[in-house]
Amino acid sequence: MNSSSIDNDTSLSLYHLLDPAILANPYALYKRLREADPVHWDPFLHAWVVTRYEDVVQVMLKFSADRTPSPEQLEALGMMAELQPVAQVMVKQMLFMDAPAHTRLRAVCATAFTPARVAGLRRHIQEIADMLIDRALPSGRMDVIADFANPLPAIVTAELFGVPVEDHEDLKNWSTDFAEMLGNFQHNPDRARSVLKSTENMLAYFQNAIRDQARHPRPGLVQSLMNAEVDGSRLTEEEVIANLIVTMVGGQETTTNLIGNGLVSLLRNPDQLELLKNDPSIVASAIEELLRYESPSQHTARLAPADVMLGGKQIKKRQAVIAVFAAANRDPERFADPDTLDLRRPDNRHVAFAWGAHYCFGAPLARMEGQIAFETLLRRLPNLRLEPQELAWRENMGLRGLKSLAVSFHA
Ligand code: HEM
Repeated sequence: MNSSSIDNDTSLSLYHLLDPAILANPYALYKRLREADPVHWDPFLHAWVVTRYEDVVQVMLKFSADRTPSPEQLEALGMMAELQPVAQVMVKQMLFMDAPAHTRLRAVCATAFTPARVAGLRRHIQEIADMLIDRALPSGRMDVIADFANPLPAIVTAELFGVPVEDHEDLKNWSTDFAEMLGNFQHNPDRARSVLKSTENMLAYFQNAIRDQARHPRPGLVQSLMNAEVDGSRLTEEEVIANLIVTMVGGQETTTNLIGNGLVSLLRNPDQLELLKNDPSIVASAIEELLRYESPSQHTARLAPADVMLGGKQIKKRQAVIAVFAAANRDPERFADPDTLDLRRPDNRHVAFAWGAHYCFGAPLARMEGQIAFETLLRRLPNLRLEPQELAWRENMGLRGLKSLAVSFHA
C-alpha cells in the first residue's frame, strides 16, 4: 500500500475499538497498524497512533505529558464545557505534568507512598482476598469481576488512604466515572453529568477526610500527603486532593482489569493455568506476562514537545500522539512469539506500566495485589472453569477490562 492510501485507510483508525468485535480482540488491528504504518496519522482522532515498542518508548521518554484540555478543546472533543471542574483537578495531577513541576510533585508524593507502606499492606490484602473467596465458596460459582476484582482494589485503596473501609463502594463508583475521562477519546455526553457529580463528591469527600484527620489522625496516605515535605516544599490541599484522586483512580480500574483479563487469559490457556497452579513460585513472572499479554491500560496520550521525526514521520509541535502500550507489548521485534501466553517468558520488559518519568507510581502495590490475587484464586478454587457466556468488554477504549466473568469451581 502506498503512503497516501495508508493515510486514507479508515479501517486503521483506533476508533474501531468502539466496535464490540474489535474490542473483543484489538490485537489484529494493532498488528495491522504496526506492520502497515507504525506511526499512523489517525484523521478521526486527530492524533498520531504509535504501535512499535521502540517508538512507544521514545514517546514516553521525549514527549510532553502536559495535555489537560482547555475549555475550547473540551468543546472540540464533544465534551461539555461544564466538565471544566474535572479538567481543573486534572491539571494538578502528576499524570498531566512535565518536569520540573512533575519531578517536585512526584518526589513529595513518594515520601508518603513508601515501599514500607506497600509492604505493610501485604497481610491485609491476603485477608481481603480470603474474605471475598470465603463469601463465594459455598455457591460454587462467582462473577470474578463483581465479587472479587472490583472490591479487592477498592478495599485496598481505603486501607492505603486511611479512610473508612465501608466507603469502598463510593471510592469504586467515583473511580469508574473518573476513569471514563481518562480512558476515552471522546466523551459520552449522557455520562458527563455523572462524571461531574462524582468529581464534586470526591472533592468534598477528601476535603472532609483531611479536616477530620487534622483532629483525629489516622495512618495512611491522606495524612502522609498532608505532611509530606521535600527540600521545604509541601503540597497544597488542592494538590493533595488531586493526587489522592489520581492514585485512587489509577489503582482501581487497572488492578480490577489485571485480575479479570489475567484470569480469562489463563482459562483460555489451560496449560499455562496448570503450570501456575502446580508451581506458584512462578507467580511474579506470571503477573508480568499477564500484564504484557492483556494490558489493563492499553494506551496513553502525549503531545510533541517540538517538531520531531518519529519512525520516519514528521510530527509537528503540540500534535497529539497516542502511544499504544498493548501494541508495543505484542511487537515481534521485541518479544518472541508475542501472541503466545508464556508465564515463564524471559526478559519481559513490557510497557504495561509505561516507561520513564511517569512509570506507574503504584506498580509495586499493583504487582503485590496481582500476585496475592492469583495465588489465592488458584489455590482456593479447585477445578476452576469458565461458565458458558458471551464475554462483554467494557466500552472504555483505554482501560481494557471485562464487564463480568462468570466462573464455577468445586464448592
Ligand atoms: C495493574 C495495575 C496498574 C496498571 C496496569 C497501571 C498502569 C499505569 C500506567 C500505564 C501509567 C502511566 C500513564 C501515563 O504515563 O500516561 C500509570 C501511572 C500511574 N499509576 Fe498506575 N497502574 C496500575 C496500578 C496502580 C496502582 C495500584 C496505583 C496506586 C495505588 C497507581 C497509581 C498511578 C499513578 C499515581 C500514576 C501517575 C504517575 C505519574 O504521572 O508520574 N497505579 N499507571
